[in-house]
Amino acid sequence: MSKHYVVIGNPVAHSKSPLIHAAFAQQTGQDVRYERLLAPLDGFVNAVRSFQAEGGNGANVTVPFKEAAWQLADTMTPRARLAGAANTLVFSDLGIHADNTDGVGLVTDIQKNLGYALAGRRVLVMGAGGAARGVIAPILAALPAFVVIANRTAAKAAALRTLFAPFGIVEAASYQALAGMQFDCVINATSASLAGQVIDLPDALFATGSLVYDMMYATQPTPFMQYAQQHGAAQVADGLGMLVEQAAVAFHLWQGVMPDTHAVISHLRAL
Ligand code: ATR
Repeated sequence: MSKHYVVIGNPVAHSKSPLIHAAFAQQTGQDVRYERLLAPLDGFVNAVRSFQAEGGNGANVTVPFKEAAWQLADTMTPRARLAGAANTLVFSDLGIHADNTDGVGLVTDIQKNLGYALAGRRVLVMGAGGAARGVIAPILAALPAFVVIANRTAAKAAALRTLFAPFGIVEAASYQALAGMQFDCVINATSASLAGQVIDLPDALFATGSLVYDMMYATQPTPFMQYAQQHGAAQVADGLGMLVEQAAVAFHLWQGVMPDTHAVISHLRAL
């Protein structure tokens, strides 16, 4: 009997996860059914419990339920605990186990797919919301020289700095305070691009050879990617590779097989 998974979100109609997991299943010969599940904004827990009762084996969780998934879990990986949010749930007789594969997906995309080693690099993370919190521990695990977290609301960057200080050299700053600094890798984890807004940044932020990464993706380069291209970034990337890599880690957790992501990334790019 095929194993059954869903991606739960609201909205969820746009999610590419079913496409990605279908490609992984075909590639690895796994018998998997993977669908979208729209949960009411106040109905996440009921949606998970019903799916579990129907025999579901696990779920991916997307906006706005990642924190609720974290709260619902009986056990979780250390990286999920630190992230404060879960994007992958595994159901078993023992309960719900949670992981957060977003950060490892981002780091794999940067290091493996884009060929940009983070060790020794000066890294800037823009944003201090859920998306930023989910990726900082895996970035620090790649041993950058340091990570600066910049955010519009200073207190949120400071809180993340305190949370992640045990795991590497990490500082908090306002965007204005970045003036005079340069970074080898700049990661946009804000939701500003979603609203078509570009954050006002000091000049000369991007070091020679720098990689600028927007965790959002769209058919066109995001406003932030365009800004980076115009201001000296050597390499600019969107979050499509991260999306496929985080899915691959979830697939591995569920099926015990690691799919090949390259073919799937190329296929999605071509669509
Ligand atoms: P997510 O789960 O996507 O991280 P979030 O937790 O609401 O969503 O966080 C959104 C992030 O984008 C925050 O860092 C937010 O900055 P504030 O903490 O100051 O609100 C940032 N953000 C969104 N729009 C922005 C804008 N126009 N300028 C600067 N930062 C913005």
